Amino acid sequence: MIIVKAIAELKKILFDVKSRRLITGFVPTMGALHSGHVSLITKAKKDTDFAVCSIFVNPTQFNDPADFEKYPVTIEADIYLLENAGCDMLFLPTVKEMYPEGLQHHLHFDLGFIETILEGEYRPGHFQGVCQVVHRLLEIVTPHKLYLGQKDFQQCMVLKKMADSYFPLVEVVVCATVRELNGLAMSSRNKRLTQAERQQAVALFNTLAYIKENIVPGDLHNLAQTASQQLVYRGFKVDYVSLANADTLQLVDSWDGKEKIVALVAAFLKDVRLIDNMIVSG
Ligand code: PAF
Repeated sequence: MIIVKAIAELKKILFDVKSRRLITGFVPTMGALHSGHVSLITKAKKDTDFAVCSIFVNPTQFNDPADFEKYPVTIEADIYLLENAGCDMLFLPTVKEMYPEGLQHHLHFDLGFIETILEGEYRPGHFQGVCQVVHRLLEIVTPHKLYLGQKDFQQCMVLKKMADSYFPLVEVVVCATVRELNGLAMSSRNKRLTQAERQQAVALFNTLAYIKENIVPGDLHNLAQTASQQLVYRGFKVDYVSLANADTLQLVDSWDGKEKIVALVAAFLKDVRLIDNMIVSG
């Protein structure tokens, strides 16, 4: 695997790759890689000729500076995982390389109502930061395909909207959430949990499964409320347990029995904020 830190060097290599008419796949990450990321690289390797991964802990998407400070960094282990997954190139830029003119936003991304709900509501400015960095990365890497994990359901929608506006030729591929055997969604943030807390965190998956088992046409308010209470009972501080149309992310409080519904949850276990989602109908 080629490891590059400088944009100029990366572009030189990619120019050569593209002049050989090879198809490129790109997996943007913030490191602390796990099997979920590996599944994205594996898919990119299967679909394309040249898989590029980036590791960059993007300061502009953290609305909470403490969360940024505590974001796990495991670069040696990440390189090992990427090499084993057959990744062709790792882009490892510095903040200066990514944002030579400083961290301020030069573009405002018009994301509509999606940025005002759920993660957008609880993490103001987060999606502008995510779009800023992925826009920059797509300009640098110019891949044919972009691979994202469904675990960040709302982020996938936001980035699809951004890519459709600015990079219409890039195909966005959303890959299924990878889970531990007990159901816990793989997440870099799990690295901040003790073994006992990881066991406790399975409650997020169980809550989503509870919604899936119990959803019936009609009012959904009580179902969401009961699910949220289950999490509080298991020691979580809940930001939201919400149900939304899985195609538009419009929040719904009743179900006609046909609409495709996604349940989304965000909750803190101590000071670690975890999110998860599940298609619960349709
Ligand atoms: O999902 C992530 O790890 C990040 O939000 C992303 C897409 C790499 C942008 O920094």
